[in-house]
This record gives sequence, structure tokens and C-alpha cells, in this order.
Amino acid sequence: MAESQIKLYYKNVMAKVSPLGSEHGITDNQLKALKEETTSLITRLNKERKARETPYRDLPYNEETVQKVKELTGQLKDRCENLVVLGIGGSALGSIALQNALNPYMHNLDDTQRPGPRFFVFDNIDPPQLSSFLDWVDDELDKTIFNVISKSGQAAETASQFMIIRKLLSDKLGPDGCKNHVVATTDPEQGTLRRIASEDNLRCLEVPEGVGGRFSVLSAVGLFSAAMCGIDIDSLLEGARDMDKRVSTEDFYKNPAAINAAVNYHFYNHGKKISVMFPYSYALKDLADWYRQLWAESLGKAEDLKGNKVYIGPTPIKALGATDQHSQIQLYREGPNDKLFAFLQVDNFDKGIKTSPTPDCAPELSFLAGKDLSLLLNSEKIATEYALLESKRPCLTVLFPQVNSYTVGQFIYLYEVTTSFAGALFGINPYDQPAVELVKEATFALMGKPGDEYEELAQQIRSITEVDGDFLV
Ligand code: PA5
Repeated sequence: MAESQIKLYYKNVMAKVSPLGSEHGITDNQLKALKEETTSLITRLNKERKARETPYRDLPYNEETVQKVKELTGQLKDRCENLVVLGIGGSALGSIALQNALNPYMHNLDDTQRPGPRFFVFDNIDPPQLSSFLDWVDDELDKTIFNVISKSGQAAETASQFMIIRKLLSDKLGPDGCKNHVVATTDPEQGTLRRIASEDNLRCLEVPEGVGGRFSVLSAVGLFSAAMCGIDIDSLLEGARDMDKRVSTEDFYKNPAAINAAVNYHFYNHGKKISVMFPYSYALKDLADWYRQLWAESLGKAEDLKGNKVYIGPTPIKALGATDQHSQIQLYREGPNDKLFAFLQVDNFDKGIKTSPTPDCAPELSFLAGKDLSLLLNSEKIATEYALLESKRPCLTVLFPQVNSYTVGQFIYLYEVTTSFAGALFGINPYDQPAVELVKEATFALMGKPGDEYEELAQQIRSITEVDGDFLV
């Protein structure tokens, strides 16, 4: 499917062939040096993958998971009109991104053509949000499936939501309410959610061992809700497998993940420490959210692999074209030149829509009449790229021939492996997230988790954060 491959376009980060010049672009010699530095890492990553040290790399080949997901979907789909994911971070962002990329904008409201249940994700514990949903779902409970996703079962947010839903189901639907209406996606062996699932006799899917949340979208974590909502998961995984071939090649110039990571690494080291993902497609907007977590949690690290303090990590930002042209471009063009832009551009939108004739009183708008909105959107992308280049801001573009499950599978895999390459270039471990722990522990302490260490921590937190009226204005 050569014509369906997404492509990374990097001319507009180069010094000579773009308007950037050598102050802001990558010179040929710098690219050569990046090639030298990155090529050995391609070999290293391929070895690590063979040694099963990066098990996310094999997710697109896991037929057993696909089989299980399809079986469960077959059992549940007919009696499911609402699918609700409870999860946070890597247990939610991938599912949201898949749904919004691959099902229509009006999916939840389209009761005649929708290819699966309505889809909701609760990745927060905002009381008005959840209570508004609970009011609505009350009459729908017997047609609703809750997919609680937590590798650890310890995330306070997911655990709290699940406790609420668990009680609701047993109060309203009786002792089998939970068993019939919950699918738990969690660690295969251990953890709090696994324990609850065994006790409640829940249907289960697995977060594979060694796969962190943010690398898990191509496991049951993302596949189950996708399959339930009518997304073609075979083609999604095929896209990922085809990208796997491209990102495994030891030829730097043919390896889009190696080039993507090397370009990001170069600009980070040359004062452009912010990377803006800028989709010109509403469908792709939540993939930028997914990327933000992948990039931030994987690459923001205090220590390198040798234990040196490095405090490293590019800051990922999400913008949406054309919307954010009207909110961000002023800063992006005239503010500090500290950003690398990565546009996502779609060649063929699956639906066209032409503008209507202009009113006689507005001849100045007639140039827009009869033009397709996709032409306008893509022209705006090119216009933005041009304007940024005029201001010497480097721009990458990921070109999608179309947005479909095959190309989205490619994109996910491309960015996961790009993250691995970037981690290797920065010399850090991209697979852990030690800094997140303190926030979790502090939350536990403030919520009264028993134990001397939590009591001490709670006191310490209060001594620092309690509001001091002297500073209130
Ligand atoms: O990427 C990650 O590892 C995190 O974002 C986790 O997915 C998130 O913290 C949720 O954790 P858990 O799945 O254990 O509930």
C-alpha cells in the first residue's frame, strides 16, 4: 500500500533549501553528524527490541489480543448502546485519539448510522462533569458497558470513579450488575484492579507486561473501545506493522522515526526547546494530545542513564489549524524563536464540502465561493508554514494521504518509535516517569491514606501549601 503511507517532510528544517539559513536551519554537515549519531542507535534499538526490552514494539503482532478483543466485542456489542472508558493518562488518551480520528464528529448523536455504541471517556474526577453524566446514564445502565482501564489499579482518579460505578451498578442492576457491565483492562497478574476483577468475577483484558500506559494504545487498552465503536483494528495494526518496517531500517535517510527524533534533538540543542504539534484536521487533534503525553512523560527527565543530573526534555504543545492561527500565530512568529513546528496535513479528506455563492453585497468574498473547505484548510496550512518560515521558524510536516485506521496506525507507531529514538539521543530512559510518583503519593497523603509516612507527608505538604492570608489580595 505504498500510496497510503504517511510521510515525514523535512525540507523546511534544513538551512540551505529553506528560508531558515544556517542560524536557524540544519546544515548539511549537521545532518551528516546527526546521521552518524543516530545510526548506531537504530542498531541499538533493534537489538533491544529483539531482546524484548521494548515490548510495545511487538503489540501490532499480538494476534491473541486481537482475538480476545474481537470475542469480547462480539459478546457485548449487541447489548451495548453506551461504552464508557474510565481511565487516566496513558489509559485514556489513546482511546480518545482513536475515536475522534476514526469516527465521525457526530458519532454519539447519530442513532441511525453509528457503527457501535456511543462513546464516553472519563479521564478526570471533576464532580459536575461526572454527576451530569451519572444523571443521564441512570436510565441507560442496562445498555451501558464500563471499561475500567488501569494497569496498577492505584490511580486515585480511576479507582474513585470505579467505586462509584461499581456501587451504582449493583444498586440498580443487582449483584450481577458489575459482572455483566464492566470490562476491566489491567495487569495480567497483579495489582489492585486485578484483585477486584477476580473478586467481582469481571470480564478482563490485559495491559501487557512491560508496556507503560503511554505506549499501550495498540494493546487491549485502545483496541477494545475502538473495536466496540466500529473501528477497523486489523487495519490499524497493519498500519503499525508497515511503519515498523520503515522505522527499523538502518538507513537513516529512509527511517522517518530516526530523522524525526534527530531533528527534534538538534533543535532542542540549538535553543528550540518547545515542539508544537499542529494538526490541520479536526480528526487528528486528539492525536496531538496523545503525543503531548508521550513526549512529555517519556523525555522530561532529571537524570541521564549514567545518573548525571541533566534536567532535559522538549516541551510539547498542541495547536489546531486553522483555529489556533487566530490565537497563537502572533506569538509563534514574533515571540522567541524557541520552537520546532510539526504540522499534520491531510491530502484527501473523506468528505468534501463546497462554499456557497456569496451575497451580492459582499463581492470581496467571491474568491471563496464554490471552493472546497479542504482546499481552504490546506491553503491555510501552507500559508502558516510559509509565514513561520519567513520568520525563520523550522517546520516539519507529517503528510497523511487520508485519515483512516491504516494511516493512524502508522502515525502512532511512528511517534512511539520516534520517542524511543529521542530518548536514546538524549541519553535518558523514556519508559519511566519517576516524577509523577510524588504527586500520587501526596494525593494519597492528603486523602488520609493510613501509615506514618503518609501522615508525615501530609503535614509537610500542609506546612508548605496552606493558604497564608498575608499574601491574599
Ligand atoms: O503513561 C503512563 O504510564 C501513565 O500515564 C499511566 O497510564 C497513568 O498514570 C494511569 O496509570 P494506571 O494505568 O496504573 O491507572
